[in-house]
Amino acid sequence: MGLMDNGLKYGLVTRILHWGMALLLLWQLGAVIAGEVLGETSFTDAIGSTHKPVGLLLFILAVVRAVWGLLNLSRRPRAHTGLIGKMAVAGHVVLYSLLLFVPSVALIRQYGSGRPFEAFGLTIMPGGHDKIEWMTKLGGDWHGELAWMLLAMIVLHLGMALFHQFVWKDDTFKRMA
Ligand code: HEM
Ligand code: HEM
Repeated sequence: MGLMDNGLKYGLVTRILHWGMALLLLWQLGAVIAGEVLGETSFTDAIGSTHKPVGLLLFILAVVRAVWGLLNLSRRPRAHTGLIGKMAVAGHVVLYSLLLFVPSVALIRQYGSGRPFEAFGLTIMPGGHDKIEWMTKLGGDWHGELAWMLLAMIVLHLGMALFHQFVWKDDTFKRMA
């Protein structure tokens, strides 16, 4: 398997980004849902404490993935031509947009709070300045809403992958799996 996509199959880098981010998102959204269902326990506190660092990692991976996707644009496999193909591309563009926006608005809110932000032993934002109202409002208004929209899109995406596999019985799943 090549590193780059080849028009028929996704390459190694695309696959690692796809499945690695899928796992991290499962953790990220699963932890939030566990927190809502179980309320505050030492278990949900422990998994909740990974939210900001994992979110930062997802942001970095989303940027890398977007750049990689653009570099491979002409080599991406196409499942359908015509309208269904256009809808699939549009769905992927929405996924990419949400993958970028969800952590971005949270990081902007974090900066705007004026509080320091440390992750992986590094000082990401030193903080210490006054609160910047529009930044905290942006995150407050949009982070959670867009994150739930991302979850809905992932469920739809998973549904389409299953549909390809078990109803249309084509090779769509194989070229990413
Ligand atoms: C792709 C990455 C991320 C996903 C999928 C995600 C997802 C979520 C979800 C689903 C919620 C719960 C919203 C609700 O209760 O309605 C939430 C809350 C929160 N997230 Fe994230 N998050 C991500 C990245 C980040 C980052 C990078 C930060 C900060 C550096 C962050 C900070 C917060 C905070 C402070 C809350 C609680 C306040 C709020 O609901 O907005 N998140 N996140
Ligand atoms: C839950 C399990 C998942 C399965 C079974 C799955 C399956 C697939 C398959 C079969 C493809 C190839 C589709 C095609 O060529 O038209 C694909 C592509 C894609 N998937 Fe997933 N996926 C999953 C999770 C996710 C998640 C969590 C995301 C991120 C939000 C995601 C985002 C994408 C994107 C953007 C593409 C287009 C190729 C790319 O740019 O990487 N998938 N997926």
